[in-house]
Amino acid sequence: MASIKRKIHRSKKRLSFTDLVSTEPGSLAGRYMRRFWHPVHRAEDLMPGQAKPIQIMGERFTLYRGEGGAPHVVGFRCAHRGTQLSAGWVEGDCIRCMYHGWVFDESGQCIEQPAEEKSFAQKIRIPSCPTWEYLGLIFAYFGDGEPPPFPRYRHMEEEGVLEVLSTMEWPCNFFQRMDNNGDTAHVPFVHRGAYSSSSANRRSGIPQIAKEESPWGTTSYATFPAGWTNVFHLFMPNAYVFRNPSPDPDLPWEDRMQWDVPVDDEHSLEFRLRRSPLTGEAAGLFRQRRAALLAQEKTSVTALGDDVLAGKVRFQDLDKHFQDKIALVHTQDYVSQVGQGSIADRTQEHLGRSDLGIILFRKIWERELRALAEGRPLKKWLLPQEADIKFRLHDVQKKSSRER
Ligand code: FES
Ligand SMILES: [Fe+2]
Repeated sequence: MASIKRKIHRSKKRLSFTDLVSTEPGSLAGRYMRRFWHPVHRAEDLMPGQAKPIQIMGERFTLYRGEGGAPHVVGFRCAHRGTQLSAGWVEGDCIRCMYHGWVFDESGQCIEQPAEEKSFAQKIRIPSCPTWEYLGLIFAYFGDGEPPPFPRYRHMEEEGVLEVLSTMEWPCNFFQRMDNNGDTAHVPFVHRGAYSSSSANRRSGIPQIAKEESPWGTTSYATFPAGWTNVFHLFMPNAYVFRNPSPDPDLPWEDRMQWDVPVDDEHSLEFRLRRSPLTGEAAGLFRQRRAALLAQEKTSVTALGDDVLAGKVRFQDLDKHFQDKIALVHTQDYVSQVGQGSIADRTQEHLGRSDLGIILFRKIWERELRALAEGRPLKKWLLPQEADIKFRLHDVQKKSSRER
C-alpha cells in the first residue's frame, strides 16, 4: 500500500484514490463496505463439519459449517495462544481449537477449556459475524452492531437453471472490477469473436452509453448500432445484474448477477451467478451438457490470462484454448482488468465521453464516502420493486426475440 500511496495524488478538495479503493480495517471505503452483506464462499464447497480460513477486506476469519448445516463466521485465531482455528474440529455449531482444545460457539463465546483446572471460558470471546445462505452462496456481515435486513433478489429466485459460474480470486483491487461492470464500450474489443454470430451482430459496433443514478444504485444503458440495448443495474455497493444475449448457443438469454468483494487491497473475489430460462427436460439436458463441457477444460482463466499478460500467448488466440465460451469471455476480461495493475493508477487516466458511467459511479461513491467521513446521513439504498426491474429486463428480452 505504501507504494500506491506515493503514486496517488491527494488533493484538498477530493478524496484520494486510496480513500476510494482501500477497504482495509479502519479505511473509509472499508467502513462503508462493512455496512452491507457480502458473499464470501460458494455454498456447495463447504461441507457440514468443514472449516476454512477466509480473508475479506484485509481481515482473516474462520468460516465453518456446523454439523447441522448452518454456516458460521468467527475470528481467525484462537484466543488462547493464537493458532489458526480453521484447522480445528467442528462439533455441532461450535469449533474446537486443535492446539489445546478450547471450544468456541457460533457467537464467538468460549465455552470450554479442557486443560484449565478452573475454567475462565465465560470471560473469553472472539469476533463473530452474522451469516446467511442464499442463491448457492454464503454471505456474511462484517460491520458492527445489528446487520441491515438481508437483501433478496427476487428475479434470481425465479424458475430456471441457477448456476454459480465463478467464485474466482482476481489479483486486482475490487474497484477495477466495479469500473468494468457497465463499461459496455469494452465489449466490441475485449470480447470480439466471443459471442455467437446472432449475439455478435446485436452487440457489434460502438454503443451509445447512458447511465443514471437509481434508488438502488445506478442503471446503465448501452445501445448498439443494431438496436440492441444492454441494461445493467448496480445494487450498491458492489452487486450487478443484467440480462445478456448468452454466449452459450443453447440459451436465448441469461440473467447474470455478480458481486466483487475485496480480499485485500490488491485482490478481490468475484461471485458470478447465472439464471437461465430453462425448465424440465431442457434444464436437465442443459446441466448435463455444461458438466461435460467443463470436464473437458484443460486450462484456467487465471493461468491463460497470466500467459497473455506475460506475452506467452496472443490475446487473439485465446479462443483456441477454451471449449466454454463463458471461460473465454472471463479470460478476456481478466487480461484487460488485471492488466491495469493490482491497483490501477487513476491519476494517469484520460477519461472520455464513453467513460461517463465510470465518472458517475465514482462521483456517487465519493459523495457517500465523504458523507460517512463527515458524519452526515448516507443515502438509503432500496432494492427495486419487482415490477421495476422486471420491466427493464423484459424490455431487453422482447427486443432480443424480435431480432432472432
Ligand atoms: S491455541 Fe487454541 S486452545 Fe491453545
Ligand atoms: Fe467484459
